[in-house]
Amino acid sequence: MSEQAEMAAARAPAADASGGPVAGAELVRGQKTVADSRVEISRLMRPHDTNFAGNVHGGVLLGLMDEVAFLCASKYAQGYCVTVGVDRVEFHSPVRVGDLVTLRAAVNLTGRSSMEVGISIVAERPDRQDSDRRTNRCFFTMVAIDDEGGPTPVPELLCETSEDLTWQCEAKLRKELRVAYGAQLQAGICVTAGPSE
Ligand SMILES: CC(C)(COP(=O)(O)OP(=O)(O)OC[C@H]1O[C@@H](n2cnc3c(N)ncnc32)[C@H](O)[C@@H]1OP(=O)(O)O)[C@@H](O)C(=O)NCCC(=O)NCCS
Repeated sequence: MSEQAEMAAARAPAADASGGPVAGAELVRGQKTVADSRVEISRLMRPHDTNFAGNVHGGVLLGLMDEVAFLCASKYAQGYCVTVGVDRVEFHSPVRVGDLVTLRAAVNLTGRSSMEVGISIVAERPDRQDSDRRTNRCFFTMVAIDDEGGPTPVPELLCETSEDLTWQCEAKLRKELRVAYGAQLQAGICVTAGPSE
């Protein structure tokens, strides 16, 4: 998906999902839509959020991503969720003190108990029009947890728009790559022989 399309998707209100409708996409019992899963939080970046270079510390942004991923997954699953993995954390441009950062999150893909949550961050100067820029994106894998701390099923995801299907397809690709990577490591592909005499 292009950066412009992604920005437009991130800006779109929940009730106005962009992309064309998917034929025959009708909600049945036990399902939820991508639109149902959307959440958004905003924070003003303050002086104590900065690193030695004067920009906002990557860890501050990561903490906010974790917060919005938790919010999105827990709202979608209607229960407690934990983070089990993070993929492709990207930092596109610096965030500065005084920026208002807005994090938008949605569920891209569900398994039995796991959900991939896609997060996009836009930063802007609150006192300047058209200053918004996409600064980060990343993908959190969250798992819904029961009272005993074990994984518990989540609602099936219904993709209503072509945009939803694109995100779902990309999430499936990330999952396949992750599994293939784990399998290759397990097979010992990187195990080197000891130093030769
Ligand atoms: C979440 C937890 C209970 C899952 O237990 P588990 O024994 O791995 O359970 P399973 O193997 O059945 O995996 C559960 C789901 O998580 C997925 N999963 C587990 N580890 C994963 C990882 N590293 N990356 C992506 N998905 C993962 C599995 O694919 C499975 O998905 P599915 O149900 O949709 O098919 C356990 O891994 C845990 O407690 N992890 C620590 C979580 C934590 O403390 N996070 C930080 C604070 S929030």
